[in-house]
Amino acid sequence: MLAIAILAAGKGTRMKSSLPKVLQELAGLSLIERVLKTCEGLKPDRTIVIIGHESNKVKSKINHLSNVEFVRQIPQKGTGHAIQQLIPTLDQFKGELLILNGDVPLLTTTTIKKLVANHYKTNADVSILSARMNDPKGYGRIFSDNNGKVSKIIEDRDCSEIEKKNKLTNAGVYCFSWQKLKQILPSLSNQNEQQEIYLTDAIEKLAKAVHLEASSADETTGINDKQQLSTCEQLLQNKLINFWMREGVQFIKPLTCTISETCKFGTDVVIEPETHIRGRTIIGDNCTIGPNSFIQDSTIGKNTCIFYSVVRDSVIGKATNIGPYSHIRPGSNINNECKIGNFVEVKNSILGKGTKANHLSYLGDATIGEKVNIGAGTITANFDGKNKNKTKIGNYSSTGSNSVLIAPVEIGKNATVGAGSTITEEVPNNSLAISRAKQIIKENWSQEKKNPTNL
Ligand code: UD1
Ligand code: MG
Repeated sequence: MLAIAILAAGKGTRMKSSLPKVLQELAGLSLIERVLKTCEGLKPDRTIVIIGHESNKVKSKINHLSNVEFVRQIPQKGTGHAIQQLIPTLDQFKGELLILNGDVPLLTTTTIKKLVANHYKTNADVSILSARMNDPKGYGRIFSDNNGKVSKIIEDRDCSEIEKKNKLTNAGVYCFSWQKLKQILPSLSNQNEQQEIYLTDAIEKLAKAVHLEASSADETTGINDKQQLSTCEQLLQNKLINFWMREGVQFIKPLTCTISETCKFGTDVVIEPETHIRGRTIIGDNCTIGPNSFIQDSTIGKNTCIFYSVVRDSVIGKATNIGPYSHIRPGSNINNECKIGNFVEVKNSILGKGTKANHLSYLGDATIGEKVNIGAGTITANFDGKNKNKTKIGNYSSTGSNSVLIAPVEIGKNATVGAGSTITEEVPNNSLAISRAKQIIKENWSQEKKNPTNL
């Protein structure tokens, strides 16, 4: 039997953030979600998350996951104290307890599987995942003999200057025999610099403690502050972007781009420099995105080009051109072969196939048919001060430059709105609507009114 306990109750003081540490995000996923994802592949019999600081926030982030149990640790008096809280819950449990720190998010399932396998093989009371770090500052140091037998772990802040030179660090991942750990848990004390009950003090109380070195020290990076968060973000970005490059995506300047774990890309996609693709975005085959673009939670069809633009929570069709400097806001659905040009903002609107809005427009809460031409400077005036109202434009219609369509309003099919018009009433199919003051010419007006010597 294998139970997993994830330590996620701490405040994360060094993070200096109002967000609990385990809810900080890396490539779009919180630290706790990452650790839980790694655990899925281990097929544990039980998974327990220990929560405490802002426990409701942490719980609600992961509550939807089935088979996760929660145990509260209030107040938080250290990692050993956290595990002491499991004694009632695991009273009847017989087997191994795998403990993971909630702030070590880059671990792979393979590494943990190796630790568990080594634990069974060596028949140890506890197996600890270790790493040899060039800069071990901040990590607990593992003291072991050449056969991998561990005598003790000393926290960085409790180490002497000589002990600090030891580069073998504790990754914060342990596989314990629960029967053995349960017996010694109540005897852990808080005689250390922080006056906390340390889980690491359990090691020297057990007869057989062994360690297994992780193949990559990067994987065991713990996150205690924003600098470490940033280091891990960079490691993860490299990993994700390298993965997609191997899948046929071309990143012109990968180090200037960021993507989320949940993004998906087709083949022959080109990502130009300074481009950021976030959330549950899907980019179809042969798209070119960027330079300087930001796309979040959107689906982009094949052969589409997005150039110097922002797209959020929207669906863009195939062979559509967006940009430069377009802003596609949430709820937009722009069909195939459309063209959205410079300084055009689209919000919560549907644009039919082949429709064009090339310059300087705002299209909000609009349903626009196929092959419509939106003239430069067309504005849907959707807000009356209280409500957002709808504009409808039928297939093959066009609006002249500087048209204001005051919603709610409907323009029929194949209709034309004259340039400079303010439209407040329905425009029937096939008609022309012009609403602007007639031009008046007063000939020789300048000579009569003005003294030419003042010109
Ligand atoms: C811990 C280890 C250290 C190891 C490092 C690896 C201890 C005493 N030290 O140090 O040896 O090298 O991790 O990253 O374990 N937590 C609780 N309740 C508490 C305190 C902490 O649930 O009362 C949780 C935190 O939310 C965090 C994890 O335990 O997810 C580790 O706590 P943290 O304070 O980050 O320990 P480190 O100083 O990093
Ligand atoms: Mg830590």
